[in-house]
Amino acid sequence: MSFTIAIDGPAASGKGTIARQLAAHFGFAHLDTGLLYRAVGRQMLLGVPPLEAAQGLDVTGLDAQALRGPEVAQAASKVAALPEVRAALVDVQRAFARRSGGAVLDGRDIGTVICPEAEAKLFVIAGAEVRAERRWRELVASGHEVTQDEVLADVLARDARDMNRADAPLKPAEDAVTLDTSKMAIADAVAEAIAIVERAG
Ligand code: C5P
Repeated sequence: MSFTIAIDGPAASGKGTIARQLAAHFGFAHLDTGLLYRAVGRQMLLGVPPLEAAQGLDVTGLDAQALRGPEVAQAASKVAALPEVRAALVDVQRAFARRSGGAVLDGRDIGTVICPEAEAKLFVIAGAEVRAERRWRELVASGHEVTQDEVLADVLARDARDMNRADAPLKPAEDAVTLDTSKMAIADAVAEAIAIVERAG
């Protein structure tokens, strides 16, 4: 049996944490699809053409820590606007979603494009200032030297690029349940997400 949970939302909305904790709760596998675009973006910064990087991507060996910073994030959202790059990453995401035992995928287009048939869909949002502060704390805690204003600028620039691109723009699927985490502690947001998935199943 396969059961797919699709989680989309803007940068640093809390979707990654919710996805990880949902996966742990239900015993499902988790794929952070942002890491795929970040890995391609990082390769582009190193001079590799984005399509070549996407086609040659080893999705099992992605180093999340090395891919976290704002420079890579910006490059990720630029390569993510290229239809040929998105097309090259579709199959690996769908194969992951169909694995037996259940899967949680988080990204921007999971409920709309990658897994329109997902059994449960969440769209996780939070105010831009809240998101920037959360991401800034995470980055500083993991040793990145960055200001809160720089993180806010990164988040706003990526939101604009991700929502306005022609191919697979960031938007909620019609049947997604929106979860606003602006004023929620993470434990409460996760509990609410679990309840939404249980209602969907
Ligand atoms: O989720 P994360 O912030 O790591 O994603 C980095 C960038 O990758 C996003 O700003 C977006 O441009 C792109 N992305 C995407 N589709 C996905 C996941 C991420 O376009 N499913």
